[in-house]
Amino acid sequence: MTSLSSGPTGQLRIAPSILSADFGFLADAVRTVDAETDWLHLDVMDGHFVPNVTIGPPVVRSLRRYSERAFDCHLMISEPGRYLESFASAGATSCTVHVEVGDTAALVRHARQVGVRVGLAANPDTPYETVAPYLGSIDLLLLMTVFPGFAGQSFMPEVMAKVALAREEIDRRGLPVDLEVDGGIDVTTAPIATRAGANVLVAGSAIFAQPDALDAAHRLREAAMEGLA
Ligand code: DX5
Ligand code: ZN
Repeated sequence: MTSLSSGPTGQLRIAPSILSADFGFLADAVRTVDAETDWLHLDVMDGHFVPNVTIGPPVVRSLRRYSERAFDCHLMISEPGRYLESFASAGATSCTVHVEVGDTAALVRHARQVGVRVGLAANPDTPYETVAPYLGSIDLLLLMTVFPGFAGQSFMPEVMAKVALAREEIDRRGLPVDLEVDGGIDVTTAPIATRAGANVLVAGSAIFAQPDALDAAHRLREAAMEGLA
């Protein structure tokens, strides 16, 4: 299955994270928020890189039948290289690997080779200098605003300094790189993140833990736009 387009780089994107949805009704959850979804964020955890276990390629493949949005696969796993091919053939649009797993240059090449958009993620305490050397060879930089593993944690405002550094370099060099934040994004923190320079906002609890998920996603988009004004 071919992956669907992520759209032009640098535009505001809302990426609902299904981690906070009811896993018994995933297809319904995805369809409910479709009108306010730019990318669908899929959190993959292996119980090793992070202390939680979630989904893998079979779920990506199944959901692909219910959505035409870009699938933004966040691989919180210790050996992403073993699974890149499977995620690509399951319908991933992008695969984001964590810089903390190491072997980053080879993983970036490998992801490129399997035909997905290439993302690189950094934990809140990983310095900007660790990811900066790869900016010219990736499509997406994900700067975590919580320590990965669980939905519903509090946004870490101190990460905004790193977001601002990345935005400055992306713009100065004219790089086609999306800048994503993930963790604790809600109507209060979204404008803080966009003001600092993020253009892709992942949100789990602020969308799927709300009584009206579609309306919550819409309000999140409006809040994010405030930070761009
Ligand atoms: C955390 C995941 C996030 C998570 C965000 O490890 O990477 O994508 O779903 O959830 P919220 O928005 O609730 O912080
Ligand atoms: Zn995520």
